[in-house]
Amino acid sequence: MKKPYYVNGEWKTTEKFVDLYSPYSKEVIAQIPQATREEVEQAIESAHNTRKQMAELTAYERAAILEHIAKLFIENRQKAAEIISLEAAKPIKFALGEIDRTIETYKFAAEEAKRLTGEMIPMDAAKNGANRFGYTIEQPLGVIGAITPFNFPQNLVAHKVGPAIAAGNTIVLKPASQTPLSALFLAELIDQTALPKGAFNVITGSGRTVGDTLVTSDKVKMITFTGSPSVGIGIRNKAGLKKVALELGSNAGLIIDKNVDLSQIVPKCVAGAFSNQGQVCISLQRTYVMDELFDEFIEQFTAAAKQLVMGSPLTETTDISAMINPDEQDRALSWVQEAAENGAEIVTGGVIENGVFLPTILTNVDSALKVSCQEVFAPIVVVNRISSIEEGIAAINDSNYGLQAGIFTNDIQTAFKASKEFEVGGVMINEIPTYRVDQMPYGGVKESGTGKEGLKYAIHEMTETKLVVWNQN
Ligand code: SIN
Repeated sequence: MKKPYYVNGEWKTTEKFVDLYSPYSKEVIAQIPQATREEVEQAIESAHNTRKQMAELTAYERAAILEHIAKLFIENRQKAAEIISLEAAKPIKFALGEIDRTIETYKFAAEEAKRLTGEMIPMDAAKNGANRFGYTIEQPLGVIGAITPFNFPQNLVAHKVGPAIAAGNTIVLKPASQTPLSALFLAELIDQTALPKGAFNVITGSGRTVGDTLVTSDKVKMITFTGSPSVGIGIRNKAGLKKVALELGSNAGLIIDKNVDLSQIVPKCVAGAFSNQGQVCISLQRTYVMDELFDEFIEQFTAAAKQLVMGSPLTETTDISAMINPDEQDRALSWVQEAAENGAEIVTGGVIENGVFLPTILTNVDSALKVSCQEVFAPIVVVNRISSIEEGIAAINDSNYGLQAGIFTNDIQTAFKASKEFEVGGVMINEIPTYRVDQMPYGGVKESGTGKEGLKYAIHEMTETKLVVWNQN
């Protein structure tokens, strides 16, 4: 039951462990080491000592390591997915989907490793630039501290580990407290590759000890974090001059225009609002439907939500299982109750049955209520009526967040207007805001964070652009 952590290519143990519970069965599934500050410093030291060896690997070698990781995930697809289901209660069909994305993410990282180039600078475009030859090179930063969330315990780790290796950096990974087993399984896989020992380290424990030591260490050159705005802002305040990339979630919104075919849209909305129990940073949380289609949409959406199968995450037919922990479930329930007490109508759900928060649809929700203006991170979706596209765009933008937003419309001018006016990092036309493939740039504005993921973009964040100028005189 007692798991080791992974530093300098070795499995290590510590004094203190905490029990890890399955969110669904509530059984203890492992005991997780709680690293001390000194142990975290040793992990950082190991990454620091390996940084030159890592930086000297050729692009060919870095790509081959990443391709090997992808291959190991292909060979261990079922096992990796079952670990996610067990520790995060992600229904197995979605956990398998996450492993398929993880494989793609490492493959994209391998491809990008081979494409990492600088650029020529037209030096003689300046009066004083004649007979100078200039170019840039992208150099690795050194040690990257990666702090990852529970909701995609392999793929969001891959979005940090993949680009870090592609760029020639070393990594200390602190996985979410609820999902350390996936990160430790990744260490088992990486241990089988030619990655230099010490270049990848996984250290488990509390945010206060592990997270703070990473964030404040001078040897760590960048923190890449996915999680809540409050933690992200705290990281930025403590990180000093190191680079910080923050992916901080959202209350993603969608507009449904009139004259669209709801039969195509409703299944997408069900997936967008309720997959992984709504615990996705771009989960569909706020839906604004034009008057003409509102009643029909509510009817079809509710009927489809009621078809979802609740149960054990390890059962193949399960669509919805337990949220990550009882506290989160209670918090989400209290937000629904607050909405109901303030004029919202609960169309379906709003209760917990057999440990599962039922898919919940609310209408007539005031934008100041928590289920609308804060990140709900639960299977809860608000559906409000609008009488113009302008009203919908204003509602989408009336948010502290801005990660992704979507619109379904058959009017090309409306689509252009939305793409121009939505205050978000990514606009989805005729798609839900939850849409993501792993090579696209992904990152938000406002309290949704800073910096972009997506392999090419994350690699850029994880390198330093160095200029070289030759004087030919
Ligand atoms: C996230 O929750 O930020 C990740 C969403 C995704 O990768 O699909």
